[in-house]
Parts: sequence; structure tokens; C-alpha cells
Amino acid sequence: MVEDEPRDATIVEHTLKEGGFDFSFKRVDTEDCFLRELERFRPTVILSDHGLPAFDGFSALSLAKKKAPDVPFIFVTGSLGEEVTIKALKNGAADFVLKHRLAGLPGAVHRALQQAEFQSQRKQDEQEIRRLNQDLEKRVVERTAELEAANKELEAFSYSVSHDLRAPLRHIEGFIEILLSTKAEALDDEARRHLQTISQSSKHMGRLIDDLLQFSRTARAEFKKTTVSLSDLVESAIRDLHQDTKGRDVEWVLNELPEVEADPALLRQVFANLISNALKYTRTRKVAHIEIGARQEDGEDIIFVRDNGVGFDSRYAHKLFGVFQRLHRAAEFEGTGIGLANVRRIISRHGGRVWAEGHPNKGATFYFSLPRTTARKAGVRK
Ligand SMILES: Nc1ncnc2c1ncn2[C@@H]1O[C@H](COP(=O)(O)OP(=O)(O)O)[C@@H](O)[C@H]1O
Ligand SMILES: [Mg+2]
Repeated sequence: MVEDEPRDATIVEHTLKEGGFDFSFKRVDTEDCFLRELERFRPTVILSDHGLPAFDGFSALSLAKKKAPDVPFIFVTGSLGEEVTIKALKNGAADFVLKHRLAGLPGAVHRALQQAEFQSQRKQDEQEIRRLNQDLEKRVVERTAELEAANKELEAFSYSVSHDLRAPLRHIEGFIEILLSTKAEALDDEARRHLQTISQSSKHMGRLIDDLLQFSRTARAEFKKTTVSLSDLVESAIRDLHQDTKGRDVEWVLNELPEVEADPALLRQVFANLISNALKYTRTRKVAHIEIGARQEDGEDIIFVRDNGVGFDSRYAHKLFGVFQRLHRAAEFEGTGIGLANVRRIISRHGGRVWAEGHPNKGATFYFSLPRTTARKAGVRK
């Protein structure tokens, strides 16, 4: 208690004890005493008069805020003008009580203590949150590093597997060739048929390995974004597929496509895969309809490739993008089941999504999205 008048201090003490508080107190009336008792006595509440002959309440307040910022400070004074009151509260006083209205003091002390308790709890909570956040960040960094390492290892592994499998396969194919060309007369029909089957199987395995190799390259390929005209990409992808369109009746609907920020070589693979699928799975149609278009939605470009082919059961739509997942038998439609996995990998490297819609015998639509960069949001090419 900062108070020069011992009788006032006694009344204050009495009022608080009446108010149900059990406490001991120290009365000080100089700066030196005040500072000493702040350290020695360590008050839970500071009550302070305003003007003292050798000290004053505002100096006490600013000292208290410096040395013991969490201890509530209440002015208990004979009078305190409005301006001074405001200044007191602004400088961090918890409350003020007039000496001729001491009945309000226990309530004020109670509130100030509650407030202090609340604030110290909040400080602890904030510290705890900060600590947890730091912990979390650290763990995310660690896990990311672990994942990256595991990923790299896996990629290296699948690359070398695909690579090293090629050599023995080449030998198998080579020796079948030799057998068929030099020892054909020595073999009967059945043996020749078996050799053909072995040859076909090893060719298929070769395609699987090539596609896997391509797939693992996609993950490791350097990634360089530039502004890409999707229309140009589609046109060149279609040109490259002229083998697949030979002798076929294909009606193309090529809608206006946007320019996007993407890696052109990777995105070209996406179109090559989707369009070659569209051609493959419309092979049983007299006239194939293939439509390619785009729309804009919520900061994304959504691009689709639609066909009128054999379609698929939409219940399995999500499966198609997995490695080796095929819904059609190899006898009907040849393939390895890696194309769409590659598409998904490329699109997710661009921060986009892939999905598909289809119905058995009623065609299929494959979609992918690409996030719009802010720079391009405004200037949409029509
Ligand atoms: N346009 C399409 N129409 C119907 N089914 C499709 C189409 N594109 C892909 N699919 C289905 O998705 C599977 C996976 O496609 P993909 O990964 O490209 O492998 P692949 O073409 O080698 O079979 C295909 O086996 C087929 O069942
Ligand atoms: Mg395919």
C-alpha cells in the first residue's frame, strides 16, 4: 500500500478484512521503500494513494508496471479528477476507488485479482500454443525431409528396376528371333505358336517397362513453368497421333482453350495420353466424336477431353488413375494402365486435380484442372 497516512491504511485494511480477504500488507511512502518491498514483500495487489509528500501514485504506477507488470495496481485516493482517472487507467491502473467510498474496494480488488489471474492464464496459454506450434513446425520439417528422402529412394529404385529389366528382356526377344529365323523347320506348329506367345508377352513386358520408365521420369523431370497455349499443345498432340487415326473416321470438336502457366513438355504428355485413350476406346465406333474444351471456375481452368467410346462404369472412375489399373481387358484394348497415372502425377505437380465421368457404352469425359495464377486471372483470352 502506497500511503503516507497510517490511519487511512488501517481503514483500508479493515475494509478489506470485512470484505472477506485474508492478507498481510506493507505500507510504504517513499520510492525507495516501494522498490524494496516490490522485491522483498512481492505484493499480489498494489493499492496506492495519489499525491504523497515524498512520492506520488503515478511514479509508483510506472515503476510497478516496469518491475511487476502482472500485479494489479489500484488507486485509492481522496479525490481523483476525471482526467487523472483516465490517465491512470491508460497507464495501466486496474481500477480506482475513492476513500470516502471504500465499500467498493473489496469488489475492486476481487475484480482486479480475477483479471490478473485471467491474464496470466492467457499468457500461459499463449506460451503453450507458441510452444506447440514450434513443435509442430519442427515435426513437419522432419517428416517432410523423411518423405522426400523416401520418395527419392523409391524413384531411384523404380528407375533402376525398369532400366535393368530391359536388358534380359532384349535377350529373350533376340533369341526368339534367332530360333524363329534359323530353326523354324526344326519346330512343329505348336512350338512355333508357343514361341509367338512368348514373343508377344515379352513385347508387352517391354511396353510396361517403357511406360514405367516414363512414369518415373515424370516424377524426376525438371519442372519449368512458362506460358503455354493449350490449343497449340492439343494440335501437336493430335498430329503426333496420326498413326492412331489412320483409316478412321474421327470428328474433332476443338473448342477455344486458354493459355496457362505450365511445363509444356509435361502437359503435352497429358494431352497425348488423354487423346490416345479417346482414340483407342472409340475404335469400335463407326464415327468417333472427340471434343476438347475448357471452362473457368473459382480461379481454375478446367479442361476436358470427351469421347463417344465404350465408356466405363462410373463406380470405378477414381481407380483409373492408379498405376496398372485397367477396366478393359488386354484382348479388347491393348495397354499398360500407366497413362492415366502419369496424367495424375503431372497434373498434381502443377497443383491441379484429375477426375473422370463415364457410362458403359456411352462415352467418357476426362477432366483436369490447373490453378490460375493471379497474373493470368485478369487477362483471359477469348
Ligand atoms: N476414353 C476412355 N474411355 C473409356 N475408358 C477409358 C478411357 N480412357 C481410359 N479408360 C480406362 O482407364 C484405364 C486406364 O487408362 P490408362 O492409364 O491410359 O491405361 P491404358 O490406356 O494403357 O489402358 C483403361 O484401361 C480404360 O479401362
Ligand atoms: Mg492409355
